[in-house]
Amino acid sequence: AALTASVTLPGCSLLGTWDAIDTVGRVDFGNPLHIPPLAEATRGATTQFALTAQAGRSAIVEGGEATTWGLNGSLLGPTLRARRGETVRITVGNRLSESTTLHWHGMHLPAVADGGPHQPIEPGATWSPSWRIDQPAATLWYHPHPHGRTERHIYRGLAGLFIVDDDHEASLPLPRTYGVDDIPVIVQDKTFDSAGQLIETTRHDNGMIGDTILVNGTAAPVFEVSARRTRLRILNASTARSYDFGLDDGRAFNMIASDGGLLREPLELTRILLTPGERAEIVVDMRPGENVTLRSYPQDLGLSDARTRNTGAADKLDVLLLRAGRQLRPAPELPSKLGLVAPHDESAVVATRAFELRNNRINGERMDMGRVDEVVTVDTTEVWEVWNGHRQPHNFHVHDVQFQVLSVDGRPPPPELSGWKDTIYLPPEVRFRLIMRFTEYTDPAMPYMYHCHLLWHEDRGMMGQFVVVEPGGSPRAIGDAHGSA
Ligand code: C2O
Ligand code: CU
Repeated sequence: AALTASVTLPGCSLLGTWDAIDTVGRVDFGNPLHIPPLAEATRGATTQFALTAQAGRSAIVEGGEATTWGLNGSLLGPTLRARRGETVRITVGNRLSESTTLHWHGMHLPAVADGGPHQPIEPGATWSPSWRIDQPAATLWYHPHPHGRTERHIYRGLAGLFIVDDDHEASLPLPRTYGVDDIPVIVQDKTFDSAGQLIETTRHDNGMIGDTILVNGTAAPVFEVSARRTRLRILNASTARSYDFGLDDGRAFNMIASDGGLLREPLELTRILLTPGERAEIVVDMRPGENVTLRSYPQDLGLSDARTRNTGAADKLDVLLLRAGRQLRPAPELPSKLGLVAPHDESAVVATRAFELRNNRINGERMDMGRVDEVVTVDTTEVWEVWNGHRQPHNFHVHDVQFQVLSVDGRPPPPELSGWKDTIYLPPEVRFRLIMRFTEYTDPAMPYMYHCHLLWHEDRGMMGQFVVVEPGGSPRAIGDAHGSA
């Protein structure tokens, strides 16, 4: 039986209301933004963390406490934080009444530690993957990945940030005091009934589009800004909804990082589109006493009007109120150079693979846990050409690697897609060429995943599996690896 923990989020008296498409969701911001705690770590030769998936109750909106799931709490999980070069071991326990998994989204690591559908954690069991962190500083995240049930597990609340640090990022004058001027912004949409319970059944072709926006589990959140510059680590952890984030008075912000780490230089923008699974770090400048609202604007997903209806793309939604105090701590100018994004060498490409996403299939196939779809050779560079072949929204996520976008319909990518990415939106009938390097040799029987991160699509089979083998190697039957925990 599931354990029940009770946690009440502060001041939960408010409920956003949305009357119709294309009106601003009117939200009376008043609930202090919950900041997920930093996970406690035991540091030695190996840095050890412990996470336990459990059910609990959370007071999120008026009407009553919702039954939710969380890690080490009743909703969401703590923020894991580790440095490049550290070896981590994470003990994941499962006190739910069904099996789950925990996947480290964006992490470069051995497939056996990846937490995909082949590493179930049964109720009462624990799983303790270990790996050495070897990638640039970035905002990554973790979430369950049980085949066919990922949407439900994330929707109920199993998700958290995994921040990777490194010396280069630490040397830059960027806001970095967690919870003070460096803020996690985990955005999720949900629907509640009048008793405050989560509704899980509002499914369309694209999954669940909720009418209440939560940040870090808080509805109608307000964050008290205390510095001239605040870094927001925005994660779209929604199951299906995309957001085109901007600030309500039209002011620009600086984007400093995409999924896999810092951009080469700060990028001044007024909007950033994030589809499910994508992250962006932005820095917002504020003057004393100001109020600025982070809002999602109607977005062009490249779909016909009819197709837009079930995506929430036409909605304007207020997400988070930033309220600056009378006195703000000064902050240094942003550096003109940020990340070291060395371009992958196109002349080294040994294979080009094509992937068409259509009708909840990739290249005509539905996900089959027992089939390896692609066999990649270790220490090689490849181009993956990805294409959304019908007029539904899809995105594309690849495990283990951070890739670079070589071209979008033959043209160079827009600057927000010029850094490290692991998830990318695919407007219909636009060809994306992604370049990536595979350096992690894996047990030939243990695959990584690639898939659409609209979770209803993923759960229905829009996913494939690849292995990374030695030259001339071939995959073993996947069944061989099962049960060997
Ligand atoms: Cu965020 Cu395969 O997942
Ligand atoms: Cu999709």
